[in-house]
Amino acid sequence: MKIFIDTANTDEIRIANEMGLIDGVTTNPSLIAREGRPFMDIVKEICETVDGPVSLEVVSTDAAGMVEEARRLARISDNVVVKIPLTGEGLKAIKALSAEGIKTNVTLIFTALQGLLAAKAGGTFLSVFVGRWDDIGSSGMEVVSQLRSILDNYDFDSEILVASIRNPLHVLDAAMMGADISTIPFKVLMQLVQHPLTEHGLELFLKDWEKVPKK
Ligand code: E4P
Repeated sequence: MKIFIDTANTDEIRIANEMGLIDGVTTNPSLIAREGRPFMDIVKEICETVDGPVSLEVVSTDAAGMVEEARRLARISDNVVVKIPLTGEGLKAIKALSAEGIKTNVTLIFTALQGLLAAKAGGTFLSVFVGRWDDIGSSGMEVVSQLRSILDNYDFDSEILVASIRNPLHVLDAAMMGADISTIPFKVLMQLVQHPLTEHGLELFLKDWEKVPKK
């Protein structure tokens, strides 16, 4: 499973990248707003730091506006993937952009059938939002499982991207279900690295090493 980092914070991206953990980055308008810096400054820095796909979201809501915005975003760097929301207008835009060879990340997918439509339109990544389902008391991962089965029945090139991840269990389930990508917030990514038994074990090894005669 590929791992993307779900943040617009360039310090977090740099740290995770140095650990060799990330294959790409996803942003959205809320994550960008949180940084309080000009959009272009953030985006250029991210695209220079990371080799893999960097998802940037359009804010137009009509197909023509989305296509126009997507073309502009795609010109920023070769690794830009344009995030388009799963709406009727979004599907039109995805189809047009796919014909132009512009990669898309179809965002705000909440059902497996929306995912199927996004794949049919030619979406590159299908972002299933799991945490927001869990937040309202339903299983978001169930949608991922259904979409995996659907895509496996046919011959789509689209990849399932598990988004809106809230905890390590989401990542474990995503990997076990065969999701192609998980986009993970920095905090959850660090939770995957750390384990109290690893830290305790290391402490014991270092203590025992002090008892070893050094010559
Ligand atoms: C990523 O592409 C999504 O925009 C993001 O994972 C949404 O996460 P949230 O539901 O925590 O806002």
